[in-house]
Amino acid sequence: MQPRPDPTLVDRFASTSPSGADDAAATLVGAVKRYGSGQAAVVALDDVTISFPAARFTAVMGPSGSGKSTMMHCAAGLDRLSAGRAFVGDIDLSSLDDRRLTLMRRERIGFVFQAFNLVPTLTAVENIRLPSTLSGRQPDTSVFDQVVSMLRLADRLHHRPNELSGGQQQRVAVARALVTRPQVVFADEPTGNLDTRTGQEILGFLRSAVDEHRQSIVMVTHDPNAAVWADHVVFVVDGRVHEVVDRPSADSVLGVVKRLGR
Ligand SMILES: Nc1ncnc2c1ncn2[C@@H]1O[C@H](COP(=O)(O)OP(=O)(O)OP(=O)(O)O)[C@@H](O)[C@H]1O
Ligand SMILES: [Mg+2]
Repeated sequence: MQPRPDPTLVDRFASTSPSGADDAAATLVGAVKRYGSGQAAVVALDDVTISFPAARFTAVMGPSGSGKSTMMHCAAGLDRLSAGRAFVGDIDLSSLDDRRLTLMRRERIGFVFQAFNLVPTLTAVENIRLPSTLSGRQPDTSVFDQVVSMLRLADRLHHRPNELSGGQQQRVAVARALVTRPQVVFADEPTGNLDTRTGQEILGFLRSAVDEHRQSIVMVTHDPNAAVWADHVVFVVDGRVHEVVDRPSADSVLGVVKRLGR
């Protein structure tokens, strides 16, 4: 089956809300991100307009270096755009100073970094609890227990990141993003280093976060079998949204991956 773009995803800008997108978890409008200057300049995002719908699971795919992580960081307010606008819900991120931006992220966003970004001096459990500690809120014990058990971290909670395997560090990074049940979870290759079983359980948990708790998930993956858990797949190529596949199947996703040839 030939994958077709989902017009509801890319043409959501006719409404009257500030971001122009109704019921969007996060939106980029004409987003440009340049790194460096002069001859060394890299345009990592090249005029991207996309909205990630609320209470939906979006997968983001595309070749290495195509701008996926940059798009996630800018959409989540971890990095500022060079031009264009980024919204979380209807909040224009350019209207927030750095302090308010940090507070907004703490309130609303969970982020699984591609490079984990665990704090090396803190134990696993301290890392997982860090967002709650910073915001002065205790994570729900039952969610904490469920996440720790799903991620098989119970016996590693009191170890520091350098005492954990790569996959264990990734699981701590996933737990940290999920235990507060944030409105929007950005996960940058959250299953990249994991065995199939743990990967499937995380994907199932992300799916139920959307279906049962109306959280919004945006997940980068290189794996078509992970992408099929999503409601749609956004393909990024050379810093642009190349196409969107709605209701992905392994075949439709693989078709695009093969067509892109990278
Ligand atoms: N801090 C930075 N300084 C300079 N260039 C950067 C920086 N971060 C990313 N880039 C460049 O921007 C482009 C997009 O990078 P990005 O990390 O967003 O790609 P990606 O799609 O996430 O790739 P991957 O699948 O390998 O993780 C790349 O050419 C990269 O080299
Ligand atoms: Mg990346």
